Amino acid sequence: MDNRPIGIFDSGLGGLTALKELRSLMPGEDLVYFGDTGRVPYGARSVETLRRFAMENIRFLKSHNVKMIVAACGTISSIMTDEMEQALDLPFTGVVKAAAKAACRATKTGRIGVIGTSATVQSGSYARIIGAERADAQVFAHPCPLFVPLVENGYIDRDNEVTNLVAKDYLTPFEEEQPDTLILGCTHYPLIAPTIGKIMGDGVTLIDPGREAARFVKEYLAAHQMENENKQGSTRYFVSADTQDFDAIAARFLGHRLEREVEHVEVDSLTL
Ligand code: DGL
Repeated sequence: MDNRPIGIFDSGLGGLTALKELRSLMPGEDLVYFGDTGRVPYGARSVETLRRFAMENIRFLKSHNVKMIVAACGTISSIMTDEMEQALDLPFTGVVKAAAKAACRATKTGRIGVIGTSATVQSGSYARIIGAERADAQVFAHPCPLFVPLVENGYIDRDNEVTNLVAKDYLTPFEEEQPDTLILGCTHYPLIAPTIGKIMGDGVTLIDPGREAARFVKEYLAAHQMENENKQGSTRYFVSADTQDFDAIAARFLGHRLEREVEHVEVDSLTL
């Protein structure tokens, strides 16, 4: 038993996809969420900058005495090295491995689509893990850089015309490539999953990396007797830009008002 909180971070709202699932799978756990909204989007930044952001965000979460860290961000998960993970002296998971494995289980035809940020697609992270897991799989990966700003600005309704137009354009290559499984390889994308699903059609299974990572965390904590046996866990939210914008969109996505006020962290206080 370990009553310390779980730390979760992302560039903004995307990691809430993991948080939502963690909350429902593990109601007793305390959660500390950090959305780096002062520096979003991450997806077009250099690997060096992303590695620095990762270490800064992890240091912030460690200052809250967390027992495990979840990089609920496809971009950060794609650029973290094994050495970086080992140096953390805390259990850590990204989202890529769990999502890639889930896609390999889900696909029947072996044709797997991946959408993510430019940094994620360039890293080849999903294709690498899928290839190791299932040698016969074919991976079709495309970046969708406008999705993150659309989500951060609240353009998340299924019928939002702007998001529909952008999504139709980005998803066009899949008409020929015909995947039967699509990894929403950036954790922001499940917030617009209804729009993406409508365009891809019923025959395509969508994989939500935040959800898959949350399942991994549950198994990990159980296997290491690190669960919190509280009845009702608490959640704290921190962001590095405007707290009200985050609060409003987060509440829409989570389907309830946040139980506590969102707290502000200065970007300058994060920098190493
Ligand atoms: N949610 C992050 C991801 O999963 C978004 C990155 C960004 O800010 O561009 O990749």
